[in-house]
Amino acid sequence: MAERSGLTVSALHFYEREGLISSTRNEGNQRRYGRDTLRRLAFIRASQRVGIPLAAIREALEGLPQQRTPREDDWEALSAKWKERLDSQIEQLVRLREDLTNCIGCGCLSFKRCLLVNPADAMASEGPGPRRLLPGTPRPVADFPE
Ligand code: FES
Repeated sequence: MAERSGLTVSALHFYEREGLISSTRNEGNQRRYGRDTLRRLAFIRASQRVGIPLAAIREALEGLPQQRTPREDDWEALSAKWKERLDSQIEQLVRLREDLTNCIGCGCLSFKRCLLVNPADAMASEGPGPRRLLPGTPRPVADFPE
């Protein structure tokens, strides 16, 4: 299967552990995959290539009648459903890129002016002063590692 799909053996094992494909064992305890596994793998790889997380791919595969292998019309329906999600992700990334443009070469990570640290100066609405350092204010772990 690895040879035919172009994937590594470890990738196949990973997909199997994740419940995306399945195999049976022969008498020598070797994995045996059904013919439909190639099509499932193509579906998985195409989905991943457009940024769909494994959990959503698994959900899509589980949603097929009797967990059958995805056909052309399944891909058409699922990709149409995922288009909206992808458009939203692209929009967020474009916005992030625009914000990041100000940060490239800067490094200040200022709560006052950095759009990455404090998007749209959201903390200004919480009041004056160092909002994240005041007692009783939740401290984001990512910003203040112990
Ligand atoms: S790092 Fe300085 S503005 Fe973002």
